[in-house]
Amino acid sequence: MKIFSFLRHHKINFVIALVLLCIQANLELAVPGVMSNIVDIGIARGGIVGEAPVGATASELARIQTDYILGQGAHMLVLTLLSVACSILAAYNASKTSAAIGREVRHALYERVLSYSPAEMEKFSSASLITRATNDIQQIQMITVMCLRIVLFAPCMGVGAVVRVLSTPTGMEWILVVAICIIAIAIGILMGLTMPKFRRMQGLVDRNNLIAREILTGIMPIRAFGRQEHERARYDEANRELTGTYIFTNRAMAFLGPVMMIVMNATTVAIVWFGGLGVDAGTIEVGTLMAYINYVMQVIMSFMILTMISVMLPRAGVAAERVLEVLDTTTSIAEPAPEHAVTRADGAGWRGEIAFSDVTFAYPDADMPTLEHIDFSVAPGQTLGIIGSTGSGKSTLVQLIPRLYDVASGRVTLDGVDVCNIPLTELRAQVGYVPQRRFLFSGTIESNIKYGNDRMDDERMERAARIAQATDFIEAKPDGYRSAIAQGGSNVSGGQNQRLQIARALAIDPKVLVFDDSFSALDYKTDATLRAELGRSCRDAAVIIVAQRIATIMHADEIVVLDDGRMVGKGTHEELLRTCPAYLEIARSQLSAAELGLDDDGHADTPATPVLDQKGGER
Ligand SMILES: Nc1ncnc2c1ncn2[C@@H]1O[C@H](COP(=O)(O)OP(=O)(O)OP(=O)(O)O)[C@@H](O)[C@H]1O
Ligand SMILES: [Mg+2]
Repeated sequence: MKIFSFLRHHKINFVIALVLLCIQANLELAVPGVMSNIVDIGIARGGIVGEAPVGATASELARIQTDYILGQGAHMLVLTLLSVACSILAAYNASKTSAAIGREVRHALYERVLSYSPAEMEKFSSASLITRATNDIQQIQMITVMCLRIVLFAPCMGVGAVVRVLSTPTGMEWILVVAICIIAIAIGILMGLTMPKFRRMQGLVDRNNLIAREILTGIMPIRAFGRQEHERARYDEANRELTGTYIFTNRAMAFLGPVMMIVMNATTVAIVWFGGLGVDAGTIEVGTLMAYINYVMQVIMSFMILTMISVMLPRAGVAAERVLEVLDTTTSIAEPAPEHAVTRADGAGWRGEIAFSDVTFAYPDADMPTLEHIDFSVAPGQTLGIIGSTGSGKSTLVQLIPRLYDVASGRVTLDGVDVCNIPLTELRAQVGYVPQRRFLFSGTIESNIKYGNDRMDDERMERAARIAQATDFIEAKPDGYRSAIAQGGSNVSGGQNQRLQIARALAIDPKVLVFDDSFSALDYKTDATLRAELGRSCRDAAVIIVAQRIATIMHADEIVVLDDGRMVGKGTHEELLRTCPAYLEIARSQLSAAELGLDDDGHADTPATPVLDQKGGER
């Protein structure tokens, strides 16, 4: 069973549990024997073991009997106290081990997920990863406790009780066999009914989490579109299905209780009935009969516990499999092999020249490549603009630089070294990437800007904020850089959010700056000032700007035009106006002919000196 792979580092705790539980079982099994002594010897024979003392007075006999019964009673008490002590130690051992296993597995899972690339994240979905890290690990923890207590205890107890039943020849063993058969049939039916439901349960919990998460994160559009009812119904359906499954399995399990009670009571009645005949015939003593009933009950209980566990183990096995699936999935973005790794961390460092040569890329499971034959390079100090219609592959392209995805063919290089050969942390430390999808962490403005390096000094943080044009709004806040940021950055405006993201990327002083549609929420003036400031302050960095607005990239040293994953143009703004119809089309849709310096036929005349003062497009 896969579940046991989590327990292998805790063998010693297993041994401890086994020893403690064996002792406990033996102690508990000794109790009915002492009880039978009290009845058979203490009461029936007046507490006299062996020959009766000759000429003892009635009061002496009474004292012998009381002493015997008290002595046996004390014996029983000691046995019980020792067994309680064992049980407490076993419980402590089990809780400690299971908590340790929970911590280890959660840690391993978290480590693994942190190493995942977007491809693996997509494969699992974050909702499922959360269920696996919480619910599934809890299942594993619970089954560990059960293993270390009940699962090991039941066989110890069962075997001991069977030995004692067999060593007491009463001719009533058949009653035990019949009782066990009935229980086996009941549990068999129950398992058949509940197992498929148990298997589905985890998937349903996943779905529930997924919908809940989606509703919580999408609460704004849900309200805006008045879809509360629809979402409520969607959640209700998932919730009802999960609840239904829970109720069904719990009801089925609850059914087992009464069945057990009936079987156990009927067994007792049968033993008393047939045993009574034996007592009558003088072949069996009352105390022995009482102990016998006890042992039979223990055998039945142990059998039941073991079968119940066999119902629960597969369920925990599903949880274990789901956790192992995450632990066994390695990221598709592998670190370079040591013999190929190129590092310049200690030497002159990287310059920041990025080049794509004949790059083709397809998303996992996609039929068609998203990018084909991409070729360009950006030297340090230069700016490359990337423009294209939505879905043309701009974001995909820039994600290849910090290796969020790997190319299918071709090469992406940094200073001529294939990015696949640069250790990931070193590569990513050179790239200041501002993703298109904005995300700020809960904390403060300061913690967000210093995210790339906690030990960064304030001066560097303030410089980054200044270049990103964020100083004004930060300083307008009463707490300045210490102002709180809510999870996901929900308490700052879209433009403020974007500027903080830009500051975060700038703060690590990267050699390559990648802005994926990062100026879209800025007004034209801020956009222009920011880019001008960027040009002044990050003179040595290679800058890649993805934009929808032509004004944002028209001054770039080179512009790449993408259409449906292919490069349909490359050159400066002026060159592209003349040579690239796709670029001209975008340009015309955004700027007037006069602004573009086009003649009335739509042809570029003189190299355009854009008149963008009022829009603030110049640098
Ligand atoms: N994670 C993904 N898995 C599969 N396909 C994807 C994934 N992300 C994007 N795509 C597809 O790849 C294509 C390019 O997407 P991409 O996000 O690069 O476009 P884009 O040019 O950045 O668009 P936009 O201007 O809207 O940001 C799209 O057709 C999109 O459907
Ligand atoms: Mg994009």
